[in-house]
Order: sequence, then C-alpha cells, then structure tokens
Amino acid sequence: MKISTLHTAVLGLAALAKASYINYTTVTGYFMQDEVSTDPSTFVYYEENFGLINRTYEGETYNRNSKDLTQWQRFYNEVVRLNQESPCNVEYKVFFFGRHGDGYHNDAQAYYGTPAWNCYWAEIDGNDTTTWHDAALSQLGVEQAQTAHNFWQQLIVDQRIHTPDAYFTSPLTRCLQTANVTFEGLELPRNSASFKPMVKELFREGISIHTCDNRRSKNYIHNLFPEWIIESGFTINDELWNGITAETTDAQNMRSKKVLDEVFEELGNRNHEQNLFVSVTSHSGEIGSILSVLGHRTFSLNTGAVIPVLIRAETQEKDVVTKCHAWTVSAHCTTPPATSLANCVCASSAAAVTTPLVTMTSEPSTTSGPVCYDA
Ligand SMILES: *[C@@H]1O[C@H](CO)[C@@H](O)[C@H](O)[C@H]1NC(C)=O
Ligand SMILES: *[C@@H]1O[C@H](CO)[C@@H](O)[C@H](O)[C@H]1NC(C)=O
Ligand SMILES: *[C@@H]1O[C@H](CO)[C@@H](O)[C@H](O)[C@H]1NC(C)=O
Ligand SMILES: *[C@@H]1O[C@H](CO)[C@@H](O)[C@H](O)[C@H]1NC(C)=O
Repeated sequence: MKISTLHTAVLGLAALAKASYINYTTVTGYFMQDEVSTDPSTFVYYEENFGLINRTYEGETYNRNSKDLTQWQRFYNEVVRLNQESPCNVEYKVFFFGRHGDGYHNDAQAYYGTPAWNCYWAEIDGNDTTTWHDAALSQLGVEQAQTAHNFWQQLIVDQRIHTPDAYFTSPLTRCLQTANVTFEGLELPRNSASFKPMVKELFREGISIHTCDNRRSKNYIHNLFPEWIIESGFTINDELWNGITAETTDAQNMRSKKVLDEVFEELGNRNHEQNLFVSVTSHSGEIGSILSVLGHRTFSLNTGAVIPVLIRAETQEKDVVTKCHAWTVSAHCTTPPATSLANCVCASSAAAVTTPLVTMTSEPSTTSGPVCYDA
C-alpha cells in the first residue's frame, strides 16, 4: 500500500507538465434535450426537428433577410456568429451523436434478461441461431437507420439544413452499418462535405468482457467500406478488448475526453471555422460518457436515436498530469445462470471465473487494460 502510494506520487510528479487542455461545456437554450422538462424516454428526435427550439437569436432582429430563412439555417448562422465573436481559444461546434440501430446483441440481452446476459451469454459468441460477437444490425436496426436517413433527407429539402462537415464512427460493425445506411445515398446540398467517415477506435462502446464489444480487424473494416478513412495508428487487431477486464466509468470518461480532443484537433487541422457540424455514430454507453464529459445532462438514447449538442470548447494552458484508471476484473459463469437472479450467481454454486469463454482472435496486447491519458 505504502509502496504503491509512493509510486503514484513519483509518477505524478514526473508527468506534470504545462500543456494545452480543452475544457468542454454544453451550451443550453438551443435544444429541447437540454431542458429538464424533456423526458428522454418518450422524446422522438425525428418528430421534434432534432429538438431544435423555435426562437430568435441575438442580433437577428436587425437582419431583414433572416425572416426568409428556416430555423436550421438561422441556427447555423448563430453558430457562425458565436465563433466569430468568441476569443480565438474558444470554438463552438454542433455534434450530432447517433446511437447505432438495434443489433443482435440488444435482442439477445432482451431475450435472456440482463442478469443472465451479463453473467454468461454476453461472454460467448452467440447461440445456435444468432451471433452477437461484434453484433450486426437486426432488421429493426436497419429500419431505424433508414428512419434517420429519411429524416436527414427531409430536413435537407424542407429546411435546407447544413449537413455534417465531417463524419466519425465507432469501429464496431453495428455503427459502421448505421452510419452507412443513415448517410449513404443522401442527396446532399451543393458544396457540402461528401460522406466519407473516419473510423475512430475511441468512439467504441465501453469496453466490457462482452464479445459484442470486441471489434473486428482493420482489414475486415476496410473490406466492408473500402472508401472510408481509418484513422492513423489504428491497430490491425483489437488490442483493447481482452475478455477479462472492463473499463470503469472513470476510465471510459477519460477516453471520451481523449477522443473529443482528437476530433477537435483533426477538425482544427482541416479548417478552423468551417467544420461546424459534426456527425458521430457511436453507442449508448459511450454517448452517455461523452455527454457527461461535455457537462450535458443525462440523456439516454433509444437504439437508432440521434442527439445534437452545441459544444463550447475552450483551450487553456494548464498543468496536466498523466493519469491511469485501472480496469476491473469481471467474473462470469461458464454455464447459463438462473435468469431470475439479479447478480452473477452461477449454477450449482460453481465459482464465477475470469477466463474468457471464447477463443481469442489475437493475443491480447500486454498494454491491454488501463490506458493512460493526460488529464
Ligand atoms: C470549464 O469551463 C467552465 C465554464 O466556463 C468552468 O465553470 C469550469 O471551471 C472550467 N473547468 C476547468 C477544468 O477549467
Ligand atoms: C416550430 O416552427 C415550425 C415552423 O414554423 C412549426 O411547424 C413547429 O410546430 C414549431 N415547433 C414548436 C415546438 O413550436
Ligand atoms: C438465440 O437468441 C435469440 C435472441 O437473440 C432467440 O430469439 C433464439 O431463440 C435463441 N436461439 C436458441 C437456439 O436458443
Ligand atoms: C450501405 O448502405 C446501402 C444503402 O442502405 C446498402 O445498399 C449497402 O448494402 C450498405 N453496405 C453495407 C456494406 O452494409
């Protein structure tokens, strides 16, 4: 105990350094999802104009032209104004976070019940009729992505919405498919960015011992969508999932901060002030973690749902320390447990084990487990 405390203190000191740090906040007053009166469980984004609040913006009353513009066009102008009037270390961007549509793992979790799913079924590849290792979209999931597609198309035609300037997606199959069905084949406005998403490792779901969180290889992703960009440094095999340990909330939040930093850097490098609308296709747990990093209120998304967030990003000089959050070992059973149990109690009083039930596609890397980031 003493030794580890000393060790941490020494490491902390060694890593202390002045560096730029981005502080993210959610700007409220623009979207219904930010209001406490909006109930996430009943909110349907495509029936509510993505939640965009009908209102006027500062300075608009002096602009005669704005009366001919739609709410989405005026909102875009508002985001431009916010950027123009802010100091150069402050940026505003609108992120559309889309949760993937229903996948086979979602169906299996509902079918077996969450306790039995967590305890046993999620640790294997599938059952005799369904596969959920890196799960694909079910028919319902494809339809949910088509709903998002149709909604974007309607907003492009009816409200001349500014479509995303950049697209990012988690590397898990259900997100690749959701992003594809949502955006491929849209008739985009003239001069808008074409749909050519970047696959980013850190937009993946919270890393648990569930096989649905184990991504496929870089080659698989490239073969599925050869035109898409895979971020540089993306490893051939999944080096983060090991089937034994799981990210904690703190570890995941730190990763979510890191991936936001990467995206802001990527977009800044491409063209500051022009990448104002950004699409991210990710997962319920990961979007929840990102919302918490952004200081957004908790807002759970149903499968296939999308939430826009107006983000204020302020770059500061700050003492940063490299921090590591340990992952935790997740015990599970080797045979199906009683579905009625709330906790992981294995059949025949057998002790829960911590060895994977599936054959690993690649050796887990020695760096697998806690990942350290500047904080
Ligand atoms: C981030 O910005 C918010 C709002 O300006 C401020 O309240 C908060 O203290 C800042 N956080 C850090 C870590 O600087
Ligand atoms: C916002 O304005 C549009 C167009 O005028 C209207 O159709 C819609 O019902 C309004 N929404 C709300 C929530 O008032
Ligand atoms: C496999 O799981 C699915 C739910 O995802 C269920 O509908 C199906 O009946 C299961 N198959 C078997 C053989 O138990
Ligand atoms: C991508 O989406 C299009 C349009 O929905 C569909 O026709 C195509 O099969 C999808 N591609 C893959 C690899 O899923």
